[in-house]
Amino acid sequence: MPKANVAIVGCGGIALANHLPGLGLCPEAKVVAVCDSDPAVLERARQQVGCNIASTDFKEVVTRDEVTAVIIATPNFTHAPIALAAIAAGKHVLCEKPIAMDVTEARMMYDAARKAKVRHMTAFTYRFVPAMRYMAHLVKTGDIGQPYHFRSCRLQDWGTRGLGWRQVKKLAATGELGDMLSHRIDYAHLLVGQFSRVIASQRRFHDQRDGKVSDLEDWIGMLGDFENGASGVLESSKVATGRGEGGKSQDYCEVNGSEGTLVYQLERPLELQIGKRGRAGLETVAVPNEFLVWPGSKRDPKAGDPLVVFRYDQDVEFIQAILEQRDCVPGFGEGLQVQAVMEAMLESMEKEKWVKVERTDG
Ligand SMILES: NC(=O)c1ccc[n+]([C@@H]2O[C@H](COP(=O)([O-])OP(=O)(O)OC[C@H]3O[C@@H](n4cnc5c(N)ncnc54)[C@H](O)[C@@H]3O)[C@@H](O)[C@H]2O)c1
Repeated sequence: MPKANVAIVGCGGIALANHLPGLGLCPEAKVVAVCDSDPAVLERARQQVGCNIASTDFKEVVTRDEVTAVIIATPNFTHAPIALAAIAAGKHVLCEKPIAMDVTEARMMYDAARKAKVRHMTAFTYRFVPAMRYMAHLVKTGDIGQPYHFRSCRLQDWGTRGLGWRQVKKLAATGELGDMLSHRIDYAHLLVGQFSRVIASQRRFHDQRDGKVSDLEDWIGMLGDFENGASGVLESSKVATGRGEGGKSQDYCEVNGSEGTLVYQLERPLELQIGKRGRAGLETVAVPNEFLVWPGSKRDPKAGDPLVVFRYDQDVEFIQAILEQRDCVPGFGEGLQVQAVMEAMLESMEKEKWVKVERTDG
């Protein structure tokens, strides 16, 4: 049976919480190497994973013959150099979002991966929420007719708590935009299609977090027109007081079409609210069984916290695509297209006007 020998680069919060259990669902995958620039984090990960290869230098890990695939779960400024080194060594790559610091880097990653014919994937994790998968299916099969409006709202309360590298522009590039809104731009692409133009606004309410300088936005808002004529409104905040944080805080997405309305909320990952033309009010509908786990995944849909376990499905998709020698969905192309929207938003704020979105054909 073919195997995927995986190296995890960056063993912080997300690697061990999401990717490690996800790989555990794939009998053909084995974590053979770990890398973290922090020796204490590396040693903890090495013990938890139980692998022989461990290094603080990603180049030592991604070039090893034993390694066939690399998962990159490091701060944003390191994604491109690590991905390009892994691709140059012929490894398949799953990279955390946002895949890069800007469009130029994202384009280099996408082009290099395609040229090297390796599998490439962007960790747009929330595409894998059962309710989001069902919502995408309903939109695609015409259930709500012609899409008119896309709306998303992500509200969390971090107050002045520290965000680590996420609050530093040279390490993260953007704040709430890359951290949270990038996923919701991907929802928009998945559900409605490409944006044609955008106009954006941002605020930073706290210049200091946890006693350290924060030079990035805590709030971001965007109005967008889609190529198919639909309109979009997206908002994301880390300072929505009293809203809590994580999976239980607000992550709301709604699409209104000529025939109906679909409403998704992350805190209810196994149901949708559905409205129909001619009917008053929304009906709550359970996500059908076929959407509860990723096709081919060995995950028991009844086991674990539904707000957590869907995250493992992205690793299953990565490993399946490697074994089946097909493209991953979402690939670096989807990551690049989101990066193009982010770049248009930044230009819009700098010039204080609407900006056309580059079609990357990713
Ligand atoms: N898809 C999602 O739902 C999701 C959720 C959280 C985080 N993320 C993304 O995952 C990435 C990591 O986020 P996190 O919350 O795990 O951060 P983290 O700070 O908890 O972990 C990052 C780890 O990378 C290590 N590191 C830094 N530079 C390195 C280098 N050059 N080589 C090797 N290791 C290095 C750090 O020591 C740290 O242990 C970010 O891009 C973030 O946006 C995605």
